[in-house]
This record gives sequence, structure tokens and C-alpha cells, in this order.
Amino acid sequence: MSTAAGAAGTGAARETIFTFDAPPVVFGEGAAEEIDFHVARLGVTRALLVCDPFVTASGLAARLSGALAARGIAADVFDRIAGEPGEESARDAIEAARARGYDGFIGVGGGSALDTAKLCALFATHGGELLDYVNKPIGEGRQVPGPVLPLVAVPTTAGTGSEVTSVIVLDFPRLGVKTGISHRHLRPRVAIVDPLLSLSCPRGVTAAAGLDALAHALEAYTARPYGARTHSAPEERPPYQGAGPLTEALCAQAIRLVGRSLRRAVADGGDVEARREMALAATTAGIGFGNAGVHVPHALAYPIASLKHAWSPPGYPGGALFVPHGLAVSVTSPAAYRVLADAAPERCREAARLLDGSDELASAFARLMADIGAPATLGELGYNSEDVPAIVEGALKQQRLLVMAPRDVGAADLEAIVRASL
Ligand SMILES: NC(=O)c1ccc[n+]([C@@H]2O[C@H](COP(=O)([O-])OP(=O)(O)OC[C@H]3O[C@@H](n4cnc5c(N)ncnc54)[C@H](O)[C@@H]3O)[C@@H](O)[C@H]2O)c1
Repeated sequence: MSTAAGAAGTGAARETIFTFDAPPVVFGEGAAEEIDFHVARLGVTRALLVCDPFVTASGLAARLSGALAARGIAADVFDRIAGEPGEESARDAIEAARARGYDGFIGVGGGSALDTAKLCALFATHGGELLDYVNKPIGEGRQVPGPVLPLVAVPTTAGTGSEVTSVIVLDFPRLGVKTGISHRHLRPRVAIVDPLLSLSCPRGVTAAAGLDALAHALEAYTARPYGARTHSAPEERPPYQGAGPLTEALCAQAIRLVGRSLRRAVADGGDVEARREMALAATTAGIGFGNAGVHVPHALAYPIASLKHAWSPPGYPGGALFVPHGLAVSVTSPAAYRVLADAAPERCREAARLLDGSDELASAFARLMADIGAPATLGELGYNSEDVPAIVEGALKQQRLLVMAPRDVGAADLEAIVRASL
């Protein structure tokens, strides 16, 4: 039965319904110490702990495995996470996930580790090839056929919100684009968010991750409203539905928290209150964008992160050449809000007020970037005007995201935003 469709008369009916999905969240200083309770409650007996190498090096993996063992849960550790996940590292993790009959997965680390843990849960449950589920046109875009084995997510950065989202982001450098897998069944069953785990985040990681959280909150806050979409049957409702009253409230709170605490967390990594507020902002924004969606800066970020691996981000270990996701997103955000402000003027003004009490979002965003030492231009990341067509082409492939923008966005808009960001 479809009342909205019936009420429409002629033409496509507008959506009147939204769904709001979020896993249980266990939040606060010391929350990670409860991991054994939450994993046991899901019936897991043999888990794979998928974690960032810093989690093993810092002794955190041993601590968590010890707590799990005390509850009778055996846990192997997989920590071959090197940078943001790509095709090769994904296949490596999938192989490990299928090896020993695990009945649950625990992701501990930044977004890279959490997304890898989601991949493990997906492929250990349903099998198949990596590209089966990857979004079209890179993959086949198949639907995840059913629930996946229990997955618990424990973030150690404050940014991606992956602990509460249904998304896996993957880099395909051979194609010069990032894309991913997106399905409700990929949302972790429990998110354990312990701000103390982020205290050791280097300054550069804190800044990039924090800007990612802000970008999520702002894009979801300014996204096209869910009621602007055409009505869809429940089984066809997309994960990104557009802004609604619940996502708006969450994103407003996340923007306020970032405005209050990101500068402090970057200036003093040991500031527990700032870390707590940033952890809350990241998870809150994650729930917001996980339901409402993101748009232009994220669509541009995927090619920006993938086309050139020519820049070594300060504060990231190992001297690897890449543009961290949060910086790939933030670098075009001020220009994007200059171009889009007319489409959502009240939203943009309110977001600026929440962020720093001003009334122009593009400038408020740029001020924050400058204060925390984030690169302000694509030029600093190794791009020049010759790269503009490739960035625009890559972003145009992200129609899933572009349709969430507050107005229709075409190649000319994207080009204007990229040129203004050079
Ligand atoms: N699934 C989603 O919803 C979603 C959303 C946004 C971004 N992402 C993806 O997440 C990835 C980025 O994640 P990220 O920004 O969290 O960074 P990350 O996971 O790549 O980690 C960045 C660096 O910080 C280190 N690190 C992490 N936590 C630390 C800590 N507490 N102390 C010391 N070092 C620490 C890591 O070892 C790594 O070197 C990208 O691949 C991005 O595409 C996913």
C-alpha cells in the first residue's frame, strides 16, 4: 500500500515518510572497558579484532583481547591496515575474515579500520567478490542480501562516524576514484565511543578527522529535504534520504560541538573535555549524515583523494603520500558553500551561527581551517588547473551524493567550485 503515491494524483508523488536508523551507542570515558559485555550480548564466541597498527602497538588490542578472553570470547587480531583502505588491502582483510569461522567482528581504530571491519563482516557472512557489492559503475552494486555477522565498532579518531553508518569507503587508485559499498545491513550492531581512545591522535589526524565530522554535519544539515524526493516503497528507500527533523537536530548539535571544541582538541590533544565533545560531534554527525546524506564536498573529495598520491600529510605516520579524507572534503567546502548558499540561505546562516556566531558559512569554515592548520587550497595538495576536468569528471560519477545537494548541481557548478579552491 502506498498512500503518498495514491494522494499524488498526476505526476510523481513527493516523499512523506523517512526512516531513521542508528545502532545503540555506548558513549563516554572508559566505555571501551565494557567491550566484553557488549560483544558477549551479541552471542559472539570467536571474534576477529580488526584494528589499526597503533592499537596493537599501544597495547590496546591486548587489553581488549584480555577482557574478551575473560568472558570466554576468543579474539584473533588483524592489524594489517595501512592507510585508507583500497582494493588490495580490502582483499587481504577479506581473506583473513573468512579463514577461521569467526562469528563476530570488532573494528578498533580510525575510519580505515572500521570500514575494513565492515568488509570483513560482509564477506565472512555472504561470500562473493569485492566488486559484487561496490557501487556502480565501478562495481556491480548488488544489494547486501541479508544481515551480516555481528559487528562492534570502536572509533579511536573523532571524525568519520563510521561506527554508526552503513557505508564502506574504498580507494581505487587505478581508476582514480574512491567509492564504496552502502547498505543498511553494514551498520555496526553497537558503537562503543570512548573519547579517551582519541587522546593519542596526532594533531594532523585530529584536524583532518574533525573537519570530516564538520563536513558531515554541514552537508547533512544543508541537504535537500527528504520530502523533496519522489516517494519510494520501503524496500527501495535509499540509505541517504535527505534532511529531516531528527537529522537536523543532530547535525545542529554536532556543528555547535565542533565550533566549541575542534580548535581546542588540535591545540591540546590532552584536553579531555574537547576530545569528549569532538567524539560526540563525530558520532552525532555520523548518525545525521548516515540518514540524511552528504553532497558536493564529498562528491569532490573522492577524486581529490584518489587522483594524486603526491602529498605527505603532516602528523600522519610513515610519510605516506595521500590526501586524508577529511582534508579532501574540507578543501572545497568554503567554495561549495559560496556557490550553494543561495539554495539554502537560512540553513547556511544558521550553520554559521552555530559554528562561530557569524552569519556567513563559507568564511566561518575557512577561518576554522586556518586556525587548525588545514591546507586551504588544492594547490597545497599537489593539484593545479590542468587537473580540474578530471576532478569534475570524478565528482560527476558520484550522482548518489550530488542528488542530495540543496539544488541541482552540474559540471559548471563543480568546475567553479574546484577553480575557486585552487
Ligand atoms: N564509513 C564511513 O561512514 C566513513 C565516513 C567518512 C570517512 N570514511 C573513511 O575513513 C577513512 C579515514 O578515517 P580517519 O580519518 O579516522 O583516519 P584513519 O583511520 O585513516 O587513521 C589516520 C591515522 O591516524 C592513526 N590513528 C588513529 N587513531 C589514533 C589514535 N587514537 N592515536 C594515534 N594514532 C591514531 C592511524 O594509525 C592512521 O595513521 C577514509 O578511508 C575515509 O574514506 C568512512
